[in-house]
Amino acid sequence: MKAVIPAAGLGTRLLPMTKIQPKEMMPILNKPAIQYVVEEASFSGFDQILIITNRNKKVMEDHFDRNIELELALRRKGAYKALKELERIEGLANLFYLRQKEQKGLGDAVLCAENYVSHEPFAVLLGDDIIISDVPAIKQLWDAYERVKAPVIGLEIVPKDHVERYGIVEPGEEVEPGLFELKSVIEKPDPKRAPSNMAIIGRYILDPEIFSWLKGSKSGVGGELQLTDSISRYIPEKGLYGMLITGHRVDIGSTSDWLKANLEVALLDPELRPKVSQYFDELRALGKI
Ligand code: UTP
Repeated sequence: MKAVIPAAGLGTRLLPMTKIQPKEMMPILNKPAIQYVVEEASFSGFDQILIITNRNKKVMEDHFDRNIELELALRRKGAYKALKELERIEGLANLFYLRQKEQKGLGDAVLCAENYVSHEPFAVLLGDDIIISDVPAIKQLWDAYERVKAPVIGLEIVPKDHVERYGIVEPGEEVEPGLFELKSVIEKPDPKRAPSNMAIIGRYILDPEIFSWLKGSKSGVGGELQLTDSISRYIPEKGLYGMLITGHRVDIGSTSDWLKANLEVALLDPELRPKVSQYFDELRALGKI
């Protein structure tokens, strides 16, 4: 099964950190964000993964490649646990890389995958959205795709005053708990005119028809080729479903989101949780928060 991870964006909201360092390589605790995403795809059975990258993000490829010098050093030190972890990361999937030449938006990044995908349905996972869940989010969508035999996109309920940051759906019939037939999708709507507060999060199962629609579409919000605009074409053609993901999404798009993501993941770690709580207690006692 094939998955595509668009990770070629400029990450301007995280400057200056992202001037040299790709946003997707920002750490969430001790792992780069993109590793969580590759693991989610791999644990869901996607063994062929194409990462859309750009000329300044070679370090992402290096992260998943072997580092013989490091391996030798770890072996000499007897650091076998670390060595095993490196081998696990290198063996996660068959990874392919393709450069998006100009950052013309998410739709354009997905379009870069056309030849790789060929005629099969495929998964798209955004490289800067991490979803913490028992069943990997993209597996939840793939299982739903197999039941409804039509494209399925991942959804999350967001506060009403945040809808203008997301693609928002107009849900129709709820065909299974949390799985909706969709009537329309709209990118970054004005909160007053938003059809719901169900937001599209960075997980999709799409059919290859999307490529011809992307090729025929014009730039949308922000002058970028929007994926949401082309996805809406599925609705009259073959149907489109949206599924509320069981899990919790953490985004790393802005500095505050990235900081929150680190804290949330730390609080889920049984070893780190008491240390983080204690640190906050200390800050509170000192009157710093
Ligand atoms: P974002 O819009 O969140 O990422 O795209 P960005 O453009 O890097 O961020 P800012 O707004 O400048 O801070 C969501 C995902 O789509 C990828 C990004 O890498 C990110 O993983 N993307 C976006 C591309 O691959 N190419 C693009 O042209 C735009």
